[in-house]
Amino acid sequence: MEAVNIGLIGLGTVGSGTVEILRRNSQEISGRAGRDIRVSRVAVRDKAKPRPVDTSGIDIGDDPQAVVDDPAVDIVVELVGGETLARDMVLRAIDNGKHVVTANKALIALHGNEIFERAQAKGVMVAFEAAVAGGIPIIKSLREGLSANRIDWAAGIINGTCNYILTRMEKDGLDFDTVLRDAQALGYAEADPTFDIGGIDAAHKLTIIASIGFGIPLQFERVYVEGITGVTIEDIRYAGELGFRIKHLGIARRQEDGIELRVHPALIPRDRLIANVNGVMNAILVRADAVGPTLYYGAGAGAEPTGSAVVADIVDVVRALTSDPTNRVPHLAFQPGALAALPILPMGDVLTAGYLRMRVQNRPGVLAAITRIFADRDISIDTVLQKGHDEVNGEVTIIILTQETQDRNLGGAIAEVEALSAVDGRVNLIRLENLA
Ligand code: NDP
Ligand code: HSE
Repeated sequence: MEAVNIGLIGLGTVGSGTVEILRRNSQEISGRAGRDIRVSRVAVRDKAKPRPVDTSGIDIGDDPQAVVDDPAVDIVVELVGGETLARDMVLRAIDNGKHVVTANKALIALHGNEIFERAQAKGVMVAFEAAVAGGIPIIKSLREGLSANRIDWAAGIINGTCNYILTRMEKDGLDFDTVLRDAQALGYAEADPTFDIGGIDAAHKLTIIASIGFGIPLQFERVYVEGITGVTIEDIRYAGELGFRIKHLGIARRQEDGIELRVHPALIPRDRLIANVNGVMNAILVRADAVGPTLYYGAGAGAEPTGSAVVADIVDVVRALTSDPTNRVPHLAFQPGALAALPILPMGDVLTAGYLRMRVQNRPGVLAAITRIFADRDISIDTVLQKGHDEVNGEVTIIILTQETQDRNLGGAIAEVEALSAVDGRVNLIRLENLA
């Protein structure tokens, strides 16, 4: 049988990893797929740039449209990133009747509803395993492995750059900017690293996880998003003293009246498995009604881990090339007509506990005034820690851990605490998740 021809757009970190795996493991891959798979042509921005992989026999150009319009190309693999060119090329590939594989979470989170509708109408597949948690087969697990279950919640460390930064701040005592530069040099960070450290990348991935887990349309704009720029080495140290680690989490939870969708740093008990996921590694903890909790762990970024997911998608598409489109696994796990219109809850409605760090005057009555504010809002305090008495200005650091309350209660209490004359500056809030 003739080889399946891949047209690749983008030969950067993930593109190079994909080409390398397809070459190195060609026998195993064709044995699994039932057909030989070859990259026939590639489009890049700069044809003259040296590539870290063997590109012999591949037609390398700089026109993505030529790849998408090439009648010899069976599957278009989009590894260019961004939204504009990627969206145009993916939609054009679909219109040309080609199957698509992409690692682009921004594209799927923001334009997936449109893309899947178009693909459904044309009877082609759009596969996107690499878009969430790099090499971890979380899409396949949620969409197929857990298809018997009602998913209750998923909580994940889904941005490798954030996890790498928080881990090295904790273990090596390094500052934020130094570690971010390392993450960029290692190819973990997005072209625009503010997407990573600002939580946007994790929100893209959470959008996809929630859609597949709960059978809801992709709703990136409804995700509550916080990054890690507010987390200091001090917070990491105090959290450690209290028995917690700070991780950047994406949480999607089914509640009676809707779905929680939130991305933010969180203290989690140090003895949870997920609290011990370090460096660029990702992990997603899923709680489902029949199977109970399951944990998925692996490399969330990097050339070959992500290439592994891209190639797995290519194999899936090749296996299903001749199948009837109506018998394929639906893009978002549920048949298009079965997607639910569950509301996404505002962050203020979500139940969370808090870690609050503040600088206050060290004099009688200050702590009483602060705790009164919490009591008046019916927020129960779990732990109070006083640290770092400063002889010069008479200030101390107070850390308060609260029990669960509605998130808007925490916000209201913090505003009142900040208004006290004995409190110097802002209160730093990091939420606390038990993940029990
Ligand atoms: P890179 O920046 O390393 O590579 C992008 C590639 O696209 C380069 O080869 C570049 O060409 C090419 N390109 C850019 N603009 C154009 C253009 N106008 N025409 C043709 N080619 C163009 O990105 P990554 O490989 O890191 O990421 C690719 C995708 O994978 C993104 O969607 C990203 O979010 C996703 N992803 C990345 C992961 C990672 O670990 N890096 C993990 C999971 C997903 P040239 O080389 O000539 O500059
Ligand atoms: N920039 C992303 C991360 C790449 O750091 O996790 C993987 O999606």
